[in-house]
Amino acid sequence: MARRRNAIVIGAVVVAGLAALTVAQSDIPYPDIPRGQGEFCVEDTEFMRRNHMNVLMHQRDDTVRDGVRSKQHSLKECISCHAVTGPDSIAVTVESPQHFCRSCHDYAAVKIDCFQCHASRPERGVVAETVKE
Ligand code: HEC
Ligand code: HEC
Ligand code: HEC
Repeated sequence: MARRRNAIVIGAVVVAGLAALTVAQSDIPYPDIPRGQGEFCVEDTEFMRRNHMNVLMHQRDDTVRDGVRSKQHSLKECISCHAVTGPDSIAVTVESPQHFCRSCHDYAAVKIDCFQCHASRPERGVVAETVKE
């Protein structure tokens, strides 16, 4: 399983046109992607690996432009199912390299600005954040 993921992530790196492939294979550790809660993702896992960005953008357009709200591809739902618990038993924010979205993005050198506005962990983690800081 880990091997297959690695192959996919490396594939995505190539698609993204990053020239770091040779380096990635020899020097950089493969990403350890935390598993989501439950049995299934909102779409086929393989599909999500490749297309989650399109799915998210589509959902965003539907909501922001047309006011359509569904849970299926909601970013909130991704964050909820893909929350990663830190050592203090509180869900980590995107500040942590353990964060689900960062597990691949750091590796593939992808930068997203989504969490400047969107919460990067479930709401119940927010109170704890205030306490911590
Ligand atoms: C400048 C602030 C801002 C940034 C940056 C931003 N969003 Fe949003 N986004 C919003 C607002 C405001 C809404 C509307 C909130 C609502 O109606 O729930 C929204 C709605 C959404 C929705 C539909 C509601 C939901 O939870 O499903 C999705 C999906 C979404 N954004 C994804 C993204 C993604 C992916 C990125 C990064 C590529 C991103 N957004 C970056 C402000 C932002
Ligand atoms: C109901 C819980 C749930 C929701 C909601 C959810 N996921 Fe998932 N996701 C999972 C599970 C469980 C897996 C692993 C499934 C497997 O191993 O086949 C997964 C796998 C993935 C993977 C592949 C990870 C890997 O190991 O390669 C990506 C990427 C992903 N999800 C992104 C998203 C995004 C983006 C959203 C929001 C649009 C989302 N997920 C919503 C549960 C969820
Ligand atoms: C299985 C690895 C993996 C996981 C997990 C993952 N991503 Fe990605 N993501 C990628 C790769 C690789 C790219 C860039 C390659 C591409 O564009 O085809 C990318 C690109 C994106 C982009 C488009 C960025 C751009 O500027 O084009 C968005 C938005 C995004 N991811 C959102 C998310 C969010 C939100 C999460 C967490 C809920 C997440 N991703 C989790 C691998 C992953």
